[in-house]
Amino acid sequence: MARGCPYHPPAGYAELREEGPLAQVQLYDGRVAWVVTGYAETRQLLVDPRLSSDRSRPDFPVLVPRMAATKLTALVGMDPPEHDVLRRMLIGSFTVKRVNDLRPAILRIVTERIDAVLAAGPGVDLVPAFALPVPSTTICLLLGVPYEDHEFFEEQTRQMLMATSTAQEAADASATLIAYFERLVVDKQARLAAGARPEGLLDELITERLDTGELERDVLSTIAMFMLVAGHETTANMMALSVLTLLEHPEQADRLRADPAVAPGAVEELLRFLSVADEIQRVVKADIEIAGVVLREGDAVYLPNAAANRSAEVFDDPDTFDVLRGTRHHLAFGYGVHQCIGQNLARAELEIALRELVTRIPTLRAAAPVDALGVKPGGSVQGILRLPVVW
Ligand code: HEM
Repeated sequence: MARGCPYHPPAGYAELREEGPLAQVQLYDGRVAWVVTGYAETRQLLVDPRLSSDRSRPDFPVLVPRMAATKLTALVGMDPPEHDVLRRMLIGSFTVKRVNDLRPAILRIVTERIDAVLAAGPGVDLVPAFALPVPSTTICLLLGVPYEDHEFFEEQTRQMLMATSTAQEAADASATLIAYFERLVVDKQARLAAGARPEGLLDELITERLDTGELERDVLSTIAMFMLVAGHETTANMMALSVLTLLEHPEQADRLRADPAVAPGAVEELLRFLSVADEIQRVVKADIEIAGVVLREGDAVYLPNAAANRSAEVFDDPDTFDVLRGTRHHLAFGYGVHQCIGQNLARAELEIALRELVTRIPTLRAAAPVDALGVKPGGSVQGILRLPVVW
């Protein structure tokens, strides 16, 4: 389902909810899938070990053709216990403390981008000028990937994640990115062996896990590819849609401008309200009885967190955007063993970027109507293609 307004879930979600917390739909390939719109049921299912994330299973559901082919089989596409071994290797690099250490660098990146926007405008497209480069630069810094390669990996990511890509285009893009990382890892290994100081998460993983034999090079390259893709694409879409949502609700932007301490709460509300990574899917490993229905082994289950995050039982007046709501317990980062590993990083980037943008350019406004911004198709990370602004 495509969104009509880029910051609201598709109208069809409300119709599905009327059928109960679980409904059935037909996927593009004719397969029938469960759709979970209830908040409590989404949480319950996301911690149920009878649901599998194993994308190597032939019965793993495919929402759009491009998903059949991308190699997202490491980490996000694995089940415990193998999944947990990999996750434990990475989690230490994404703690609140590690992310707080990155905040000065993120502020520097944001400041440089706003300086460049001010120098270039008024009249700038904030997607290429701000929303994309801030997370791209940040994830490069964290991983130790050269930012000079950003046009290459941003384009491959687009091919991999846009619902309009064919299965072949998506497969080629993911293979190209993995090959890029295999070369990068070999280069880095040689540099480190020659005595270079480790810089960034990839260098750490090479010295602490690859050189010790705990990780194979192909697994490391696949995880690195996924972190690069997940690390910039989701956050970039969140960034562009967040700015648009604030511009469309100027009284909410005023609240953020008046008190920068509102930023963390505003980011939680934006995460709930926008739910850009709205495509969590699983396959049933053993029958599950829930909400009066039985999910049978082999059934496809789709858990659109944009539906759960607009649940009136949990969030008062859920379709209203309110930065002072005190939003908690949203499912924008998923829930359970696969809950987003980069969530602290995404929060820090969004907080710093949005706070700085509204305070440094207080007269910022959209230069095009919402319906001219190019809404991304359903089955992609949700977002807009452009955001022309003036001030
Ligand atoms: C606002 C931005 C972001 C959103 C909305 C988001 C959303 C999500 C969601 C919903 C999942 C769960 C998928 C599932 O259960 O199948 C997930 C997992 C993941 N995310 Fe994020 N993400 C964001 C930013 C990031 C960043 C910055 C990184 C940086 C590395 C990242 C890395 C990952 C990884 C590695 C996983 C898989 C974790 C696992 O399987 O254990 N994400 N993300």
